This record gives sequence, structure tokens and C-alpha cells, in this order.
Amino acid sequence: MRTRIEPADSGLPEAAELIRCGEIVAFPTETVYGLGGDAGNPIAVSRIYQAKGRPGNNPLIVHVPDVAAAQDCSAQFPAVAAVLAQRFWPGPLTLVLQRNERICPAVSAGRNTVAIRCPNHPIAQALLRGSGRPIAAPSANASGHTSPTTAQHVYDELAGRIGLILNGGPCSVGLESTVVDVTGIYPVILRPGAISQAMLAQCLAAAGMAMEVAALPSPAEKAIRDDLKSPGLLESHYAPRTVAYRFYASDLRGFNTYLRRKPNERIGLLCFEDFVAPTTVAKKRVLPSNAEACAKVLYSALRELDAVRCDVLLVQFPESIDGVWLAIEDRLRRATKELPL
Ligand code: TXA
Ligand code: MG
Repeated sequence: MRTRIEPADSGLPEAAELIRCGEIVAFPTETVYGLGGDAGNPIAVSRIYQAKGRPGNNPLIVHVPDVAAAQDCSAQFPAVAAVLAQRFWPGPLTLVLQRNERICPAVSAGRNTVAIRCPNHPIAQALLRGSGRPIAAPSANASGHTSPTTAQHVYDELAGRIGLILNGGPCSVGLESTVVDVTGIYPVILRPGAISQAMLAQCLAAAGMAMEVAALPSPAEKAIRDDLKSPGLLESHYAPRTVAYRFYASDLRGFNTYLRRKPNERIGLLCFEDFVAPTTVAKKRVLPSNAEACAKVLYSALRELDAVRCDVLLVQFPESIDGVWLAIEDRLRRATKELPL
């Protein structure tokens, strides 16, 4: 199949028609590019899984243009969901709700819940309204790889497997949405993102809902998490193709030992602005020390380093887990391994 990248504006009518016909299309959102198909059409949904090589047990996020459309796709829209949606939609927040019959069981990988998001991007909104369908859309990368934040990234991932990519330029957030399960007694964050635990808790408190917002589980709770909820929270995910190891600037023992033991390796380094890099690294990409700015360029930087075919990537970890740093840390953890000592 030939894959075309079209300017978003001129490509929109065709993209909307393809969605209505059960075909799949890649499109920009504010978080990352999505690979979309009609969430009510089992053929479209199976095409998404197939194009990505995604395991059938990892459910997809359904995109809708507004709260009313989210209510149309869910069996229940609890008060917590209404408050969070009112405050954060359109935006990088996904709510896990009870599914209704408008959504194919395959979207939810057979569960009775569905993850729903209202994206804050003019092209995504125009595609939703133009097609008139709820659009199931995972990130538009091959399963397990780094998410795409430009149309070219999507092409590099899925060329030959999809027909059309709408080009809306680089994504403004750069990390996937915060996923929050609101089907239980209190909300549980299944995947951290640009909307932090503190922002969620503050919003609920302001609405008079004094309740806990459970954060991403600690390693001790990992077993429950794995069993319970989001297959997308698998340990290894968002990964570059080159083997990547993590290190902290506050403890360079492993880093220095590695450089000493492997003097002939071609090393790619991903580090923050103030890190004094050894001159021996073959390729370096520097990340901003502001969390939002870092999130925006993180995946591009990883991809650029991945493309230069180093023997190994060494990835500096943020020392903070406040706000968006937690989401950055989470993605980098899944993309990297611990340095071998
Ligand atoms: O920002 C985003 O969320 C992007 C853009 C395209 O909207 N989409 C995205 O989709 O990141 P994907 O498929 O790459 O990640 C969806 C995440 C996975 O971790 C998946 O396991 C989880 O949402 N998820 C989907 N449906 C779920 C459900 N019913 N219950 C629990 N987790 C669910
Ligand atoms: Mg993904």
C-alpha cells in the first residue's frame, strides 16, 4: 500500500470519508499522532490492531468531539467524570468509563469499560465532526515503539501499512494523555501525563469532591496494576530500537564504569542542558530542563538518536517526579533498561 502524507486542511474531507467507510487514517492530536478508525465498526477496529501489530488484549482509546458524545459512548457518566471532563476537556485527559453497545467490544479488548478522550486539536476535532463517528485511535506507531509526534514519525513507523497521514505539524504536548479510571469508588491514574495527580485532585476538591486520586502504583503495587488494568502499562514500551540504558546525574558510578568498560562502543547520549557530557560520545541530544518543553521534544530526540545507529543509548533521568516529570520518568523507564554493572 502506498502511504501519502497530506496537509491536514486539504486532506480532511478524504480522511473523514475514509473513516466513514471503515478505513483507517493517521491524524494529529495535541498529545501524539493517532491511528484512527470508526469505533463502532469492527472491521475498522481490526485494521487498527493489524496495522500496529498490537496485541488484541490492549484496548484502544475512543476520541469524541465533546462531553455529550462521550456520554453517548458510555453506559454511565459518573459525577467525577463530569467534573473532570468539564475542567480538562478538550485536552490530554482520558477517562475509563463503562462501555455501551455503540463501541465495538474489540475496542475495549473484550472488557466492559472504554477509555474516552476529547482531544484539543483543531484537526482532530474537524475529523471527529466531519466523520460523525467516535474514533478509536491508539498512538500511530508500531506496537511497543516510541509514539509519533510528527507526520514523518508516523510515516517512518507505518509506511506501507496505512494509506493516509494528515500532517498537522509537531504535537504541542508530546506525551500521551493521562489515563484515569473513574469506574471505581475513587479515581485511579493508570497512566501519568501532562495532567498531573495534583491537578486532578485540586479540580475535584474545588468541586467539593473530597476524595483521593490514586497515583500510579508503586512497584509494590505493580502486581495489582498488571493484573487489573492497562496492558499499555507494560514494563517495556515506548522503546527505541537501539538498546537504551538509564542513568542519574546524581549517581554516575554505573555511567562511568560503562564508558570505561566499553571504550569502542558508539554511544548516543540523551541528557539535560546542564549535564557535562564526555567528549567520547558519538552523538548527543540535549533536552530542556523545563518539564513541558522537555515533554514536547522527548520522542523526537529519542528517535533522532535511534536513527544514527549507535551501539547503545545512555539516557539521563530527571531527578524530579513532580507534575509532568512523573510522566516523562514513566515513559523513559519503559523505554530503557538499568545499566549493567
Ligand atoms: O494521548 C493519547 O492518549 C493518544 C492520542 C492518540 O489520543 N493515544 C494513546 O493511545 O496513547 P494508546 O493506545 O497508545 O494508549 C492507550 C492506553 C493504553 O495504556 C491502554 O492500555 C489504555 O489506554 N486503555 C485503553 N482502554 C482502556 C480500558 N478500557 N481500561 C484501561 N486502560 C485502557
Ligand atoms: Mg501507544
